Amino acid sequence: MKKKLFITRKFPAHIVEPLEEFYDIEQWQEEEIVIPRDKLLAAVADCEVLWVTIADQVDEELLSHAPKLKLVTNLAVGFNNVDVVALRKRGIMATNTPGVLTNTTADLVFGLLLATARRIPESERYLRDGKWQSWYPMQLVGKDVSGTTIGIIGMGRIGQAVARRAKGFDMKVIYHNRRRRHEAEEMYGFRYVPLEDLLKQSDFVVIMTPFNNDTVGLIGAKELAMMQDDAVLINASRGGIIDERALYDALKNGKLWAAGLDVFEYEPISMDHPLLTLPNVVALPHIGSASLKTRTAMLTLNVNALTAYGQGKAVSNRID
Ligand code: GLV
Ligand code: GLV
Repeated sequence: MKKKLFITRKFPAHIVEPLEEFYDIEQWQEEEIVIPRDKLLAAVADCEVLWVTIADQVDEELLSHAPKLKLVTNLAVGFNNVDVVALRKRGIMATNTPGVLTNTTADLVFGLLLATARRIPESERYLRDGKWQSWYPMQLVGKDVSGTTIGIIGMGRIGQAVARRAKGFDMKVIYHNRRRRHEAEEMYGFRYVPLEDLLKQSDFVVIMTPFNNDTVGLIGAKELAMMQDDAVLINASRGGIIDERALYDALKNGKLWAAGLDVFEYEPISMDHPLLTLPNVVALPHIGSASLKTRTAMLTLNVNALTAYGQGKAVSNRID
């Protein structure tokens, strides 16, 4: 008998179909809409393998409804939506998608950096709104990126890929991380600093650290107050790392130049969120890894794990 696999979203058929060799597959048939929690809890009752996105919480509650579960594949590198400790207690494996989205996400971070510094979305709105009457010297003036200081919080794979791009813009790179990255320091001249120094010295602060109990609310009112009044804050990791209320206040009161956000505490962000009223916020719908090539590679890494498990082989990219 084939193993039962439940997929919490409609993924491309050509990706899913080869798995039919090993699995009896059930799938939530919506591409854009998250499966309601009660339907998910019912669906996992008899499944051995579960394929989720970051919109699905794999927690104690879900596990208590899934007595046969043996493997969870998460279509993301970040796995704050998966309670790894709870899985481990039950001997359930889990995998993620490391490596394949590093450059794509770093590219998007640089896009946000340029978009905020040079007010690109705001300028485009200005043109489309018919406000462009003439050229004048102080029209939509922004901040330079070249030659400034970038402070990267979280110097993992993506953080380092952002740092390498920053070198191409002649930026001075400082970083904060749990572990020193001696090799990157030597190879590229990146400099490790305490978080407080990073916040004080950076023109651009980029958050690339994973979201967990140590990083929830890492950037609050106190940290924002340490930043320069004309600094830019970029977050393409997870929303909960920044206190959004404090960020709103800082931006509103001229204590920060701008923020570029690909992630929010609650996603999708509510359309009446105060941050969306500010012209100096560039807000994106969590598209860090969204290139066709990379999203396909992420799906493929999950498929590889599912195939290996289906064949009774060792499963790679485990996070449990
Ligand atoms: C997306 O946010 C990811 O963690 O891959
Ligand atoms: C993610 O791949 C990271 O290590 O930053």
